[in-house]
Amino acid sequence: MSDARTLVDTLRSLEAEALEAIAGAPDPDALERARITYLGRKDGRVSGILRGMGALAAEERPLVGQEANRVKQALEAALEAREAELAAGASAAGDRPDLTLPGRGSWRGAVHPVNQVIEEIWQIFRGMGFTRARGPEAETEWYNFVALNTPLDHPAADEQDTLYLGEGLLLRSHTSPVQVRTMERHEPPVRILAPGMVYRRDTYDATHTPAFLQIEGLVVDEGITFVDFKATLAEFARRFWGEDTRVRFRPSFFPFTEPSAEVDVKRVVTHRDGTRAESDWIEIMGAGMVDPNVLENVGYDPERFTGFAFGMGPARIAALKYGISDIRIFFENDVRFLGQFAVGRGA
Ligand code: DAH
Repeated sequence: MSDARTLVDTLRSLEAEALEAIAGAPDPDALERARITYLGRKDGRVSGILRGMGALAAEERPLVGQEANRVKQALEAALEAREAELAAGASAAGDRPDLTLPGRGSWRGAVHPVNQVIEEIWQIFRGMGFTRARGPEAETEWYNFVALNTPLDHPAADEQDTLYLGEGLLLRSHTSPVQVRTMERHEPPVRILAPGMVYRRDTYDATHTPAFLQIEGLVVDEGITFVDFKATLAEFARRFWGEDTRVRFRPSFFPFTEPSAEVDVKRVVTHRDGTRAESDWIEIMGAGMVDPNVLENVGYDPERFTGFAFGMGPARIAALKYGISDIRIFFENDVRFLGQFAVGRGA
C-alpha cells in the first residue's frame, strides 16, 4: 500500500471519529473544542495529516489533497449543522416551563377579623330570635339625634363630634338611628340587630378611628322588663366569652334609654401554662331600657310597649378577643396580619 493510501485511510477514520464527536457535542463549548481538535489551523489533526504530505511523491499529492479538502468540508458542514441544532434546542428549552423553579403561592381571600366577630355575634342573637336591620349612613338630625331624645344642643350633636354633610344631613355618629327607622316601619314585636359603619370627628390613634363599625340591638314588645334586658345581654356575653364569664351592669346615662347601663364582662382566661385566671372588668357595650320619649317619637304607645336597646363596638371586642392593643391594625390591610385570620387557609 502506498503512503498516499495510508494517509487517505487515516483521513477517513479521522473523519468518522470527528463526525461522532461533533454530533455528540452537548453544548457550544464542547463543539468549539471539537472544531479546534480536528480543524484547528496549528494543531488540528487534519492539518497534521496535510503537513505529512510533504513526504509524498508529487503525483500522489493531489489524491491526498482532494480527500483532505472533502473531509474538511464534511466536518465544517457537520459543525454548522450541530451549531444550529444546539441553538434551536436552547431556545426550545427557554419556551418550556422550568419545573425546578419554586412554586408561586396563590392568595386566598379571608373575612376581616372584625367582620368575623360581627358574624359570631350575629349568630348568637339570631339564635335568640333577632333579625337583621339596616339604615342609611347619611342621616338627618332627626334620626341621629332628635328622635333619640337627644336635643341638638347636646354635646354629641356638636360639630366637634359629628361630621355634617350640609343641607341637614350628617354622617350617622352611631347605629341608634336604625332603631327609629325600624320602629317607624314595623309594629311591635321588634327584635333586631343592626351592624353598620358610623362616623365621628375623632383622631386616628390606638383606640379611636373616625370611621368604625357598631352593632345596634333593639327589643320592643309588650311586657319586656329589666329582667329580659339583663338576662339577654348576660346570655350573649356567656355565649361569646364562655360559661364562666361574669357580667356587670354599671349605671350610666344615654339620652335614649332610661335607666341606662354600661355592661362589663370579667372573663376567665387560660394562660399558656394552663393556669386559669379572671381578667379585669372590661366594658363591652352601652345599653338600657328604651326611653318612653323615643317610643312616643315613633308612634308607639309607651304605656303598652317597653323595650331595651344596646350598642357595641365589634373592633373593640375583636381587639379584646385577639389581644390587640392598637386598633389601627384593623384598618391598614397588611396581609401578614389579615392572613392570620384566614379560615381553611390554602398553601
Ligand atoms: N349609641 C351609643 C354610642 O354610640 C351606644 C348605645 C348606648 C346604643 C346605649 C344603645 C344604647 O342602643 O341603649 O355610644
